[in-house]
Amino acid sequence: MKKLVLMLCLCLGLATVGVVAGQAADAKSLYARCQGCHGADGSKAALGVGRPLKGLSAAEAAKALEGYKAKTFGGTKKALMEAQAANLSAEDIQALAQYISHF
Ligand code: HEC
Repeated sequence: MKKLVLMLCLCLGLATVGVVAGQAADAKSLYARCQGCHGADGSKAALGVGRPLKGLSAAEAAKALEGYKAKTFGGTKKALMEAQAANLSAEDIQALAQYISHF
């Protein structure tokens, strides 16, 4: 029974990710405030220190954003990104990660 409930949760979770990934326009508006530092197509090294976002997989981007939010990830300029990630919801992070992976 427990396994069934777990499976159900997993499926629902995946379905949510699928729906969010479909909302490209939404991710685009979320990304609007990232552009200044990262570039419209993610090819800029943010403030000369960040790794360009272009080329990151969705999993890598999500891991980084979740890490900044939890303050467990980052380099010398991580305080900047912690402020950026602080008010992103889990759905926002997934949408942004999908968006970034398509640069
Ligand atoms: C004020 C400039 C600035 C803005 C705005 C900004 N970033 Fe960043 N970003 C940086 C810097 C600088 C780094 C490197 C930080 C470090 O030292 O860890 C970075 C790092 C990252 C990384 C990690 C890349 C890696 O090396 O793995 C991701 C992902 C990221 N930013 C996504 C975003 C997203 C998504 C937004 C918008 C919600 C955003 N950033 C807004 C400056 C910015």
